[in-house]
Amino acid sequence: MAGSHRAFILRHTRLRPVPGVDEVRLHLADEVLPLWHAVQLETGDPDAPLPYWAFAWAGGLAIARYLLEEPQTVAGLRVFDVGSGSGLCAIAALRAGASEATSADIDEIAVAAVQLNARANGRRVAVVRRDVLDEDPPDVDVILAGDCWYEAGLAERVQPWLRRAHDQGIQVVIGDPGRRYLPTDEVLERATYDVRTTTELEDLALKQGRVYVLRS
Ligand SMILES: C[S@@+](CC[C@H](N)C(=O)[O-])C[C@H]1O[C@@H](n2cnc3c(N)ncnc32)[C@H](O)[C@@H]1O
Repeated sequence: MAGSHRAFILRHTRLRPVPGVDEVRLHLADEVLPLWHAVQLETGDPDAPLPYWAFAWAGGLAIARYLLEEPQTVAGLRVFDVGSGSGLCAIAALRAGASEATSADIDEIAVAAVQLNARANGRRVAVVRRDVLDEDPPDVDVILAGDCWYEAGLAERVQPWLRRAHDQGIQVVIGDPGRRYLPTDEVLERATYDVRTTTELEDLALKQGRVYVLRS
């Protein structure tokens, strides 16, 4: 299955530098709906999730930019990228000097995409394909959460999980472009970037991506 997912990703994406994070190359798509349809056919699942993994989302773009500009955030540290999609945040963390990176996503094609993208950047990312939000936070130094506040169900679960991690001494770094479900009173802004995304996903191709930590 993993091999066929890899072939599927290679067929439907193009390896290219990420706009604004040119140090990282990802297998990216241009159009979301035809690809979503192809995923439904590939998996035989009419309810297959949107191919998040084929795009660099505004929240992840902000985290990636931040880590490359502020590498001390992750240098020498163990990083966990939750809701990893393409793996952009994990790969940027390794480029910034993280000692190891693990990514977690519930989408089986995302897991294959992370592996392909890591390899395209000469890096190794460990991948976890399960919902970790009912588990204890992992034994790591930093958790990256890029663009996980776009729907209420996920936001309501990821926020307390990150809070638990924070309370256990794990550094939490959030990237978000102003999604509706981010509780802004619980976070402290660290940086803002203009990030180039696509009107396939967003109302505007240029968004403001913000990087936050959790308020103590
Ligand atoms: C908008 S994408 C962001 C991807 C990446 N972090 C970025 O910024 O480019 C959100 C990702 O969260 C994943 N996701 C949704 N629910 C999840 C859960 N319970 N555990 C882990 N990942 C989840 C989705 O499959 C998707 O890949």
